[in-house]
Amino acid sequence: MRRILAGVMDPELRASIVELDMVDEVRVSDDGSVLVRVALTTAGCPLRSQIQADVESKVRGLPGVTDVAVEYGEMTAAQKSAAMQRARWNARENADTTEVPASTRVLAVASGKGGVGKSSVTVNLAVALAARGLTVGVLDADIWGFSVPRMLGLDGRLGGTDGKITPNTREIPNRLDPADPPGILKVVSMGLLVEDEETALMWRGLILTKAVEQFLHDVRWGPMDYLLIDMPPGTGDIQMGLARLLPQAEMLVVTTPARAAQAVATRVADMAHRSFLKVAGVIENMSAFVAPDGARYALFGEGGGAALADAVGAPLVASIPLEPAVSAGGDVGEPVAARASDDPAAMAFHALAARVVEDLLPPVEMSGCTARILDLASRIA
Ligand SMILES: Nc1ncnc2c1ncn2[C@@H]1O[C@H](COP(=O)(O)OP(=O)(O)OP(=O)(O)O)[C@@H](O)[C@H]1O
Ligand SMILES: [Mg+2]
Repeated sequence: MRRILAGVMDPELRASIVELDMVDEVRVSDDGSVLVRVALTTAGCPLRSQIQADVESKVRGLPGVTDVAVEYGEMTAAQKSAAMQRARWNARENADTTEVPASTRVLAVASGKGGVGKSSVTVNLAVALAARGLTVGVLDADIWGFSVPRMLGLDGRLGGTDGKITPNTREIPNRLDPADPPGILKVVSMGLLVEDEETALMWRGLILTKAVEQFLHDVRWGPMDYLLIDMPPGTGDIQMGLARLLPQAEMLVVTTPARAAQAVATRVADMAHRSFLKVAGVIENMSAFVAPDGARYALFGEGGGAALADAVGAPLVASIPLEPAVSAGGDVGEPVAARASDDPAAMAFHALAARVVEDLLPPVEMSGCTARILDLASRIA
């Protein structure tokens, strides 16, 4: 339970609520209902609804939990100063652990088997989020099978100064409200570091497990609303290490409409369990192709997304149709979500982005809270 709650961050203090000693009490009743008491730094802080939503969603994902209630208390002056001290210490000690801001929402796009469209979903969701004016990082964690640069049409090298890497940045025009500034994509991939795939292969055994960690440590990501991680196929070390590096990460699982794959469901559930990552949602990709005359062609079957969602206890959050425009867009470096808005796959990706922002994992709103305690704390320090 504490392990799960450790994934809930206080957006202001930029540390886990467990680490900050904000979890006063966890009470589990026989009927499976759970009560979590959280002591807040400031009782009226608008960020409390966010902490509540995060606690509820994490705890609800645990097996056997039927109901979750969150109660608040306010820290005593002594607790508050201890928490601030811890936050300050953290800020100093962890300065070089990861460069990903604690207020960044992290979604790892994973699957139970390869070739189902993880990379296509990652880049199109990133583009669709950025089109809403958000700043979105994309980490291509598929170290030797990298495909993100090609899919986004990026070919520049990653820059770097004083041992830190600067991500490749690209502006995505905002399509929702022309008055808003464009969104920004910040992209890091092995493909932007090495000359060719052969060089990447040579690095294989050497750095694979360390590479993602380094990307998180050594990249000057800067502020980001979201970080999407395109996971490599399989359920190996990278998945396992993620929760330690980025406790706030959650998983989006991509699957095909084929119903048969019970083994996939088992693998996904196992991966979520062993990595301590919550499955935030299931995405069915390569769903029925809809012809211009309205006829549906379910080439890869139907029901696979709903079945997996059911099996892992997460919502089915999107069905992306099978469509030549998706693969063609990936091949020419222009994701379908960045193009024609009346294309069914593009619309599905934009609907997915809306779902993420409005419901699944809303961006952390820092501006609502006037008491920026950490800033204050670092000024006193
Ligand atoms: N909705 C779709 N319609 C048509 N083609 C698609 C769709 N989604 C993905 N594809 C194509 O399927 C292939 C595999 O997709 P992708 O590379 O995104 O999968 P992946 O899960 O990242 O694969 P890997 O496990 O190898 O990393 C690509 O050629 C891609 O263009
Ligand atoms: Mg891929």
